[in-house]
Amino acid sequence: MKRTLVTSALPYANGPVHIGHLAGVYVPADIYVRYLRLKGKDVLFVGGSDEHGVPVTIRARKEGCTPQDVVDRYHQIIKKSFEDFGISFDVYSRTTSKIHHQFASDFFKKLYDEGKFVAIESEQYYDEQSGEFLTDRNIRGECPKCHAPEAYGDQCEKCGSTLSPDELINPYNAVTGNPLVKRATKHWYLPLDQYQPWLEKWILQEHKEWRPNVYGQCKSWLDGGLKPRAVTRDLNWGIPVPIDGAEGKVLYVWFDAPIGYISNTKELCDANPEKWGTWQQWWQDPESRLIHFIGKDNIVFHCIVFPSMLKAHGDYILPDNVPSNEFLNLEGNKISTSKNYAVWLNEYLEELPNRQDELRYVLTANAPETKDNDFTWADFQARCNNELVAVYGNFVNRALQLTKKYYNSIVPECGELTDTDHEALAEFAQVKERVEALLEDFKFRDAQKEAMNLARIGNKYIADEEPWKVIKTDPERVNTVIYISLQLTANLAIAFEPFLPFSSARLRQMICMDTINWEDLGKTDLLPAGKQLGEPSLLFSKIEDETIQQQMDKLEATLKANEAANAKAEPVKSTIVYDDFQKLDIRVGTVLECERVPKMKKLLKFLIDDGLEKRTIVSGIAQWYEPEQLKGKQVLFIANLAPREFKNGLVSQGMILSAENYDGTISVTTVEHEVKAGSQVS
Ligand code: MF3
Ligand code: ZN
Repeated sequence: MKRTLVTSALPYANGPVHIGHLAGVYVPADIYVRYLRLKGKDVLFVGGSDEHGVPVTIRARKEGCTPQDVVDRYHQIIKKSFEDFGISFDVYSRTTSKIHHQFASDFFKKLYDEGKFVAIESEQYYDEQSGEFLTDRNIRGECPKCHAPEAYGDQCEKCGSTLSPDELINPYNAVTGNPLVKRATKHWYLPLDQYQPWLEKWILQEHKEWRPNVYGQCKSWLDGGLKPRAVTRDLNWGIPVPIDGAEGKVLYVWFDAPIGYISNTKELCDANPEKWGTWQQWWQDPESRLIHFIGKDNIVFHCIVFPSMLKAHGDYILPDNVPSNEFLNLEGNKISTSKNYAVWLNEYLEELPNRQDELRYVLTANAPETKDNDFTWADFQARCNNELVAVYGNFVNRALQLTKKYYNSIVPECGELTDTDHEALAEFAQVKERVEALLEDFKFRDAQKEAMNLARIGNKYIADEEPWKVIKTDPERVNTVIYISLQLTANLAIAFEPFLPFSSARLRQMICMDTINWEDLGKTDLLPAGKQLGEPSLLFSKIEDETIQQQMDKLEATLKANEAANAKAEPVKSTIVYDDFQKLDIRVGTVLECERVPKMKKLLKFLIDDGLEKRTIVSGIAQWYEPEQLKGKQVLFIANLAPREFKNGLVSQGMILSAENYDGTISVTTVEHEVKAGSQVS
């Protein structure tokens, strides 16, 4: 193969990107691309923002702006996050670009003209007042299963059932609240059923090497039998359907977005054909290899729908592999853009500045390659401190500091090798082959482990050889130990460049290594004797407990806020008549004394001035108040409740009224301004 074209899923420009995106798609894609570039391969890495689709319109309505405003804002934020994290796209464009609109439109037109679509008329929900057809997400109504009043057209969030809009009872427009009627509308479908035999052969027989999760999902779609899929929608945001009689219709976002990979390539090549050649070379020459990096919710589109589109068109190559990851959870919960539960990349960098590589490292070490995985801040801290700082950083720092101290940062001559030298070198001679095999197989997690192993070998070697001691008895020997340590250091700069590009660059600067080439990995003469090195500084620094605590508190606060937003008030109790209310004697009392009750952790004992006399009331709110906080306060209490006796003989003459918050915390009721003790409440 002459060249490799790598794409990574175009993120929706309806929010910033978070660690789940990075772990699932962009870091692995970037590792792969950097590795190929280091090998001197011809590679092009395409990215971009996916700017059409219903979620963008929903966000715009919520924020009271246009869809274009929404995507303009998030495209910039997302693009910057990727740059900040060293995701080294050769092109990062967007699906609202002119080039893309034209390209996707032409693509559709060609298939249309060649009769590759079938037109089907069907009845869809329509809002007569606002004059629009509604997408599933924009329809709400009563759930047919659990009768929750606000289920969506595709799902009931209360009971979790998957629904179709037709099943909803009394459907209405989620935005306007208007009732809906059925109206006929025509759409164009890609008849996937016709591609089924071809797909079965191409995937199930010819791509058995795809990851089991990818292969398995394809197999289950194919086993279920493919049906025609609509490639147009009734919507006013997107690429207009380029045929007569299709006013008010746009291309379905999942039709236009993957074409974005091609149009973004075209944008790059047209701007600099000398460097990049033509887009056709990348997309149509059988000597090009196409790799899609995606998340698991994208599998069907990249393995079944998009290839069928390319096949229908006829001129294109097909993906060679589709490495797809499972999902990353966060502290045991699902990451959610709409619930704001995530570690957003832009915020991470503000709160942990210059720690891109730390996040890249942990996300790869924990990559959800074969199953869903969990990101926790405790694990983040442990990996940073115990691996990056204590192994990789520590080794490099020792090697460079000793070189500075003993040799003025000039690489010493290598003397005769001992058995332990040979052992260390033999171990590390295999690292290149191992890392390579794993990377070629898209096993990034294990590949990074191997690179880290190189650092472990170095760390152990220098700890065993103890040059700081040997220097006093056998300085000749130290020449060799440092020489070998420096070669290992140079090797680390190469091995880690695909994974940790920022620290690799800094390390290379410290050892004055101008060029870097994957094929040099494993060599023991990368830094020749006599070479002057630069000034050493720490590659990594420890992550403090405080930093971790702040991040955990932030997530906790989000969870609490969501809980509060979701908490529904208790249903109102059955109706009573005024006389029932009259039976309660609610009064204001002044707290004269308040104290804890020995051996009864929950209780506070109050002495209350009720206007007539002093009475004792016991209340189970000790968890929420210090007694001093309540002294002198005026509280509401029920004065005519029958006395209640506690286990220890204490008798409560009445009950203080307090409110229970959604999260179980308690707040005592009081009066808005001071009144005479004993005042009645009505
Ligand atoms: N925007 C989609 C998502 O985030 C991915 C689109 S990938 C493309 O799930 F192929 F359509 F570009
Ligand atoms: Zn339901």
